[in-house]
Amino acid sequence: MKFFLDTADIAEIRDLAATGLVDGVTTNPSLVAKSGRNFIEVVREICTVVAGPVSAETTATDHATMLAEGRKLAKIARNIAVKVPLTPDGLKTCKVLRAEGTMVNVTLCFSAPQALLAAKAGASFISPFVGRLDDIGESGMVLVRDIVEIYRQYPNFKTEVLVASIRHPMHVLEAAKLGAHVGTMPPAIMRQLFSHPLTDKGLAAFLADWKKTGQSILGDDKSAAAAE
Ligand code: G3P
Repeated sequence: MKFFLDTADIAEIRDLAATGLVDGVTTNPSLVAKSGRNFIEVVREICTVVAGPVSAETTATDHATMLAEGRKLAKIARNIAVKVPLTPDGLKTCKVLRAEGTMVNVTLCFSAPQALLAAKAGASFISPFVGRLDDIGESGMVLVRDIVEIYRQYPNFKTEVLVASIRHPMHVLEAAKLGAHVGTMPPAIMRQLFSHPLTDKGLAAFLADWKKTGQSILGDDKSAAAAE
């Protein structure tokens, strides 16, 4: 499963990308507004930090303007995935951009028939918003399960299921169990994936016992290693 960060916060992206575990980034107009940065500039910078797909969202609602925006965004870097909404104009734009070799992420997906349409339009990614469905008393994961199941029936569909609107680690776990290709999550959720109280407790005990031995694995090599 690929892990994408759902943020336009460059400091967070740099920090987590250093783990080698970040496969891509997704942004949206709300996240760009939160960053306070110029959209094109921040997306360009993100593309230099992360080699994988970086989603940049169009803001027009009509096909002609959306296509012009998508083409402009695609020129920022080779790893741009243009994000379009799941509307007739969005899917029309998706088809054209895909034919031009641009990656496209179809966003704001809330139903399986919508996901079927996106795959038919050749989307690189479909983004079901699980948290927002849970918020209104529906099940985001049932939607992910349905999409994964539908796509598996048609090997010619190359669209990857990108689980979005992730709110907690259980969303990541459930999406992985269902075989979703990608999970995009806020940096705080990715950090949560690393932690477990028993890991902290166990590490503290090992370190305390190690200290008692008075030994050092690196010994005299320590300064040489630090200098490397
Ligand atoms: O980027 C799309 C999606 O992940 C947004 O999540 O938390 O605003 O529902 P959220």
